[in-house]
Amino acid sequence: MVAAEDLRRRAGTGAIPQTPRLTLREMSASDLDDMAALLGDPEVMRYYPRPKTRDEALGWIRWNERLYQTFGFGLWLMRLAETDGFVGDCGLTVQHVDGEAEVEVGYHVRSDLWCRGLATEAAAACRDYATTVLGLDRLVAIVNPQNHPSQRVAEKIGMTVERQIVYADRPALLFVFGCAASPST
Ligand SMILES: CC(C)(COP(=O)(O)OP(=O)(O)OC[C@H]1O[C@@H](n2cnc3c(N)ncnc32)[C@H](O)[C@@H]1OP(=O)(O)O)[C@@H](O)C(=O)NCCC(=O)NCCS
Repeated sequence: MVAAEDLRRRAGTGAIPQTPRLTLREMSASDLDDMAALLGDPEVMRYYPRPKTRDEALGWIRWNERLYQTFGFGLWLMRLAETDGFVGDCGLTVQHVDGEAEVEVGYHVRSDLWCRGLATEAAAACRDYATTVLGLDRLVAIVNPQNHPSQRVAEKIGMTVERQIVYADRPALLFVFGCAASPST
């Protein structure tokens, strides 16, 4: 993968992605009420070990703040452009898959706003940011095999399944966008 300092430099040349219906920006501790509600919702966290506590939601925000500092990107907070209503998060993180660093597109949407195309709209903008601003030729999504909505989002932004993996001690599908061969091949 491209070195962290190169990614940070490239990220500094582009603005955080925006979409027609969504504004994305960096999250901070002032977003804790919204993020704790999102990550504490059992429906949203169905494919995670369990919903997150308020303290763990703060840890999630702190993790993203570290990503912004290190790489210049992370999961960004999403709000509806029209009403400023909280939607969720979407963005890019660095994950380790079979010992290799990969840039992953991730998304979490408030359950009462599902099925409106919001995750797909945001993920497509993040995909374009990854390829144009960061210059990446490979982007992944690590998806639980039962998580069909997440798989549909990955498919709709042009990703295909590369292989099955074990991630965080659980089976997962590795969706890939781009033409670069797997780092392990
Ligand atoms: C995955 C997620 C972000 C999708 O958000 P969304 O805004 O509803 O996604 P979209 O509206 O862009 O829809 C994507 C597809 O999933 C489908 N979908 C969304 N919610 C669904 C549900 N509850 N059941 C079945 N299909 C669903 C949509 O119909 C659409 O598919 P289609 O085009 O074939 O109709 C949302 O379900 C979510 O937050 N899930 C919990 C967090 C999560 O699992 N994140 C991914 C971790 S890898």
